[in-house]
Amino acid sequence: MRKLEQLALSIQHYFQSKGKYRLHSDLAYRLYTEVHNEQNVAFSDHWNSTWSEDLSSYKKTDFGTGKDQRPIDVVKHKKAASTKLEVQRLHNLVTFCKASNALELGGHFGRGTFAIGNALSHEGTSITSIEGCPKTIEIAKVYLNAGGLCNYTILEGSFTNILKDLVKANKSYDLVYIDGHHTAEALLDLIPICHSLLNEKGVIAVDDIFWSYEVHSAWRKSIQRIKPWASFEFLNFGYMFFDPKGLNQQFFKLW
Ligand SMILES: C[S@@+](CC[C@H](N)C(=O)[O-])C[C@H]1O[C@@H](n2cnc3c(N)ncnc32)[C@H](O)[C@@H]1O
Repeated sequence: MRKLEQLALSIQHYFQSKGKYRLHSDLAYRLYTEVHNEQNVAFSDHWNSTWSEDLSSYKKTDFGTGKDQRPIDVVKHKKAASTKLEVQRLHNLVTFCKASNALELGGHFGRGTFAIGNALSHEGTSITSIEGCPKTIEIAKVYLNAGGLCNYTILEGSFTNILKDLVKANKSYDLVYIDGHHTAEALLDLIPICHSLLNEKGVIAVDDIFWSYEVHSAWRKSIQRIKPWASFEFLNFGYMFFDPKGLNQQFFKLW
């Protein structure tokens, strides 16, 4: 059923969206060309190397129903990670936003963490990733250390609990990437907290906005509530850009 919803949302999006030649906004054109279409700085990772071959299966702490406790095969579970194209886009996005520090919700085995951290490779920059499952974190560390990434921190716990701690500690980020807990309720709760953790010209990126009708409408509701300066639906990714100049609000659907 969810697959059908995703297909319907994607088809609808295709017919309502614009390609790069019909864009009159500088930001939209640059997002299109510099983040989604082109490989500004070609990025490749060690995801398909041998790093995961000897890791044994494990029971994952599940944030869904919590009922399915079958052992997970690490190599098979790599499928839940971002794809090669998605991590290239994340890598581009960090450069595009001129971000110095980023926060990721949903670390999994660290593929997105690595892409963001790698783009943040100059001094004083860092990526913080939140992941609820401790055993998944152990595997992520194997992957990230195999790639020699040094500027990362993984925080263990549920998104909401860790975000509350980050707010209390007065943390702030240039880029927040939400990639986990794909329910409408979670998204409606998470986006305002992430917004409160953003620096002035910060950006929120959300993966899987077409997860289901409910998730998509929660994403749209969040745009209405938070009122970013510009928001984009770009294939499966949603973006909110904030700028203190308070220019007229804009909304784009891009393909
Ligand atoms: C789709 S995966 C993330 C993929 C990763 N960002 C990447 O780029 O490869 C989602 C991860 O979020 C974690 N997760 C989901 N809901 C969570 C929650 N409420 N609190 C903490 N972790 C959660 C899951 O355990 C899972 O590992």
